[in-house]
Amino acid sequence: MNAVVAVVVLFVIDAAITEPLATHRPFQVFRIYPANEEQLQTVNELYSNATEYQLDFWKAPRGVGSAVDVMAPPDMIDTFPLLLNSSGLPYEITIADVEKLIEIREKSTDKTNEAQGGRLSAFFRRLHDTSGPTYNFHEYGSYAQMQRYLRAIERAYPKFTNVVSIGKTHEGRSIDAIIIGNPVKDNSKRAVWVDGGIHAREWAAPHTALYFINELVTKYGEDSQITHYVDTLNWIIVPCLNPDGYEHTRSSRNPNTRLWRKNRSPQLCRSDRWGRRKCCKGVDLNRNFAFHWRETGSSDDPCSEVFHGVRAFSEPESKAVRDMLMSRTWFGKIDAFITLHTYSQIWIHPYGHQRDSYPGDVNDLFQVGKSAAEALTSLYGTRYIVGSGADTLYPASGGSDDWAKETAGVKYVYLLELRPDERQWDGFILDERELVPTARETWVGVKVVADAVLQRS
Ligand code: ARG
Ligand code: ZN
Repeated sequence: MNAVVAVVVLFVIDAAITEPLATHRPFQVFRIYPANEEQLQTVNELYSNATEYQLDFWKAPRGVGSAVDVMAPPDMIDTFPLLLNSSGLPYEITIADVEKLIEIREKSTDKTNEAQGGRLSAFFRRLHDTSGPTYNFHEYGSYAQMQRYLRAIERAYPKFTNVVSIGKTHEGRSIDAIIIGNPVKDNSKRAVWVDGGIHAREWAAPHTALYFINELVTKYGEDSQITHYVDTLNWIIVPCLNPDGYEHTRSSRNPNTRLWRKNRSPQLCRSDRWGRRKCCKGVDLNRNFAFHWRETGSSDDPCSEVFHGVRAFSEPESKAVRDMLMSRTWFGKIDAFITLHTYSQIWIHPYGHQRDSYPGDVNDLFQVGKSAAEALTSLYGTRYIVGSGADTLYPASGGSDDWAKETAGVKYVYLLELRPDERQWDGFILDERELVPTARETWVGVKVVADAVLQRS
């Protein structure tokens, strides 16, 4: 047993003994700044034992000087700071009560609407009642609302849109994709893929994908650039790839639920190092793809946040992506694959499985990524870093991005980590008022990728 493990175990036992003293024990988010190699190593040790300590790394350790965000559970609230202090780790508490924040952010839109005499919400309610395609982009909606929105679009724009189900989740939900291209049945054209919501808690991602759909369909025939995109390309957009996970995160304010990352695959059991049997649900879908599957940044432990599954493509959601990209219709036609995540503001190109490892055309990918990120910044000043997943975050294999590049042969593959970055403190609990700005600026970047695709063809 190493030093950190020993200290944590002692603290956990101690916490259990002093339990009755506690009143309200919140989940808290700690932002840690490892200042040197030794401190980084300590944080890395915590990271590798995260499942055991029930620490949820919102932002994994990246290097000396880079902020790490960790959510600690209620029974670690006294001991975790002691542990950090004893290791000399500089930290601050960025969210003192996660559940409280979730609650406040849930109500913030209502409050705004009330301030405006409830007119806004009444307005949107009326919109929802009509049969036209409407979606309130200022709020986090349900998966059912997203599906209704896609169907309404298909009815309103039958000439250039088509909703297809690309798979069925463990809980029986249809994974819906929309194909946008005029005429919609012409699949000889080059295509752009966008998916959002592969990770359940990253709520800004599905909403950003939905916003792209809205831009494409409402501006078709009015904006010449958009018209060109829809006439000359096919867009395959899966706004919410992990609907079971998404609905789970919406089902309770409990931070363990709201901050769920994986899908909702049936539980698997295994014994921990003390022989205790533990059973957990969920596979990290972005570790379940057949590219160096199981090698780095993922876990064999079903209770881990980065559990890679029992085999590559064991999950219906990852299978759905594979089957669509490898289908007769689409294989060889897709020139861009954009997968939306939050948070950190990074424009990521392959590869993610190990550092200093890139596809042969990395210069093209980097250049287009750089232009995209610059264009994005021009809107509101939001700054992105550009680089590979392994270089900018941490090595992790089994990602859909690397697989799309290597096996599906897509030219421009990007994983986008949307707002916020570490200048902000709220991470996954992004204020709804940032949804539309986030989506708008991201769309500016994605259009640069679409332009690069058009230039090739
Ligand atoms: N935050 C993303 C994840 O953990 C980053 C993945 C980057 N890509 C990769 N293939 N490692 O899934
Ligand atoms: Zn993610």
